[in-house]
Amino acid sequence: MLEGKRIVLGVSGGIAAYKAVEVCRRLVDAGAHVIPVLTEGSQHFIGRTTFDALGSEPAWTGLWDERHPIPHTHLGQTADLVLVAPATARVLGLYAGGISEDLLTNVLLATRAPVLVCPAMHTEMWEHPAVRDNLRLLRSRGVHVVEPESGRLAGGDVGTGRLADPAVIVATVQQLLAGEEHLDLTGVRLVVTAGGTREPIDPVRFIGNRSSGKQGHAIAAEAAARGAKVTLVTTSASPAAAEIDLVRVDTAAEMAHALETRAEHADVIVMAAAVADFRPVAVAPDKIKKSGGVPEITLEATPDILADLAAHRRTGQIIVGFAAETSDLRANAAEKLRRKGIDLIVANDVSAPGVGFEHDTNEVVILGADGSVQDVPFADKRVIARAILNVVSTLRSKP
Ligand code: CTP
Repeated sequence: MLEGKRIVLGVSGGIAAYKAVEVCRRLVDAGAHVIPVLTEGSQHFIGRTTFDALGSEPAWTGLWDERHPIPHTHLGQTADLVLVAPATARVLGLYAGGISEDLLTNVLLATRAPVLVCPAMHTEMWEHPAVRDNLRLLRSRGVHVVEPESGRLAGGDVGTGRLADPAVIVATVQQLLAGEEHLDLTGVRLVVTAGGTREPIDPVRFIGNRSSGKQGHAIAAEAAARGAKVTLVTTSASPAAAEIDLVRVDTAAEMAHALETRAEHADVIVMAAAVADFRPVAVAPDKIKKSGGVPEITLEATPDILADLAAHRRTGQIIVGFAAETSDLRANAAEKLRRKGIDLIVANDVSAPGVGFEHDTNEVVILGADGSVQDVPFADKRVIARAILNVVSTLRSKP
């Protein structure tokens, strides 16, 4: 399954370095080309000879290696995946801080390949706020993590911090590399909306909301990367990849109009846009002057695009809605899911720090009409997009 994949196996200096030997052997058995990169600390725990013998090429231990004049860029650029097992608090800290101190941290900064870190350390260190913050930051940038287990640690202590089982680590590597090449949405016609609508009051003022459109744009990019034919109806001025059919709109009415023809043929519709619920009944033709006193603006409801789409859906069409809540997240989202008659709802608590509107990160729960519940922890919006599309993909494969 890993035939021909180039995996950099970074080993840093913890007692769990001995388990990296087993990880290396399993990856090689699965067909991967494993390139061991050892930190100086790791070599106090395990000799390089072991990795020279078991890896696919002799271990790399420093920036000054006769095999290549610039080893870090060579290894980083050619890797299909960089795995760090065990990842010490030091390596996580350097990586989060963007500091290139040795060959491994240089490779981590020089790669665009997916990175999987497997932390291992004593419980006190694992629970330290600095380590938690670094890991949170790395996650938000799309770094994958296999959490440590609970059990016996060095020195006879018991607690959380033990390196995950090598079998679990290798299975995660396989999953990640399969996912990277997964074109599970090939040919699927997907329409996604993004951004907050702006409902004009007069030629210069509008009623709007804080939505940036980033989550919708991330869904469009991820779906296109997985082979879908994507139409993105957005209020945001952000660019999109050339293969995405981009439709820019401003108001709820324009968004509804843009979807009229486009939604009909879609296999999947994702309403990530924050559509205004109300708009001024009349738009003043000229700028309202404050000399005329405080204006009275009468509002009317906008059409509920999502509910209309669900009411007129084609057989087999999957409809996904979003719920931005500030309290009772699950209960409100479950009620919205039922009321709107859709298949999935992606709910986030927009009052939580770093979540939702205007941020690059999000944390959501995905509820299905079939009763399914999936929590997606705090991560970059592209990672959240991946999780949403995984659920959509699973739903599509159900008979
Ligand atoms: N939506 C829509 N058309 C509207 C309003 C919302 O299609 N006029 C869609 C959004 O794109 C999103 C979901 O409905 O997918 C969010 O619903 P929301 O407006 O938050 O729910 P409401 O029914 O208005 O409930 P509440 O205001 O009580 O939160």
